[in-house]
Amino acid sequence: MKKIAIFASGSGSNAENIATYFASNDTARVALILSNRADAPVLQRAARLGIESAVFDRDTFYKGEKIVELLSAHGIDYVVLAGFLWLVPDNLLKAYPDKIVNIHPSLLPKHGGKGMYGDRVHRAVIESGDKESGITIHRVNEFYDSGSIIAQYRVPVTSDDTPETVAAKVHALEYKYFPIEIEKEIGKLQ
Ligand code: GRF
Repeated sequence: MKKIAIFASGSGSNAENIATYFASNDTARVALILSNRADAPVLQRAARLGIESAVFDRDTFYKGEKIVELLSAHGIDYVVLAGFLWLVPDNLLKAYPDKIVNIHPSLLPKHGGKGMYGDRVHRAVIESGDKESGITIHRVNEFYDSGSIIAQYRVPVTSDDTPETVAAKVHALEYKYFPIEIEKEIGKLQ
């Protein structure tokens, strides 16, 4: 059974959904949840789920090997970014080549890049008059939201939609498909 680490900066509803999915699935387990914010609600979710967690600061993330060492001490095979807002440094990319996945709440390359997260994305969708939005599940590289795409799922956007209603539709897609796509990627590991 493979071990997953999840990085999250905020609420962590996807992190919890992924942990719950794999709790009853023999492909993998979520073994570690990491956050760059000591007050992130995702840490309370980790405690409630009985999953070990760790908090780190910017220096620890970008300088030295502490994070890679922590992941390897936990035997982590695969890394998931779920609402994690920092660019991943080179040493971590090299330690987990093609084994780091992110979810973005739009149909990339639309509405991605630095500063495009959360409600800003859904507002941009409405302001652009897009007729659809969705999710993009992609491998992580050294740039924001631009690694190779694993899967995209779509929802219609109508003239009645607000950023909040688009967010709700997109979250539903995230909960339904992110765990399944992670499972498929982990299935390709040796
Ligand atoms: C999700 O919409 C995800 O697509 C984006 O950040 C949000 C995280 O939400 N990358 P949550 O913390 O999982 O509730």
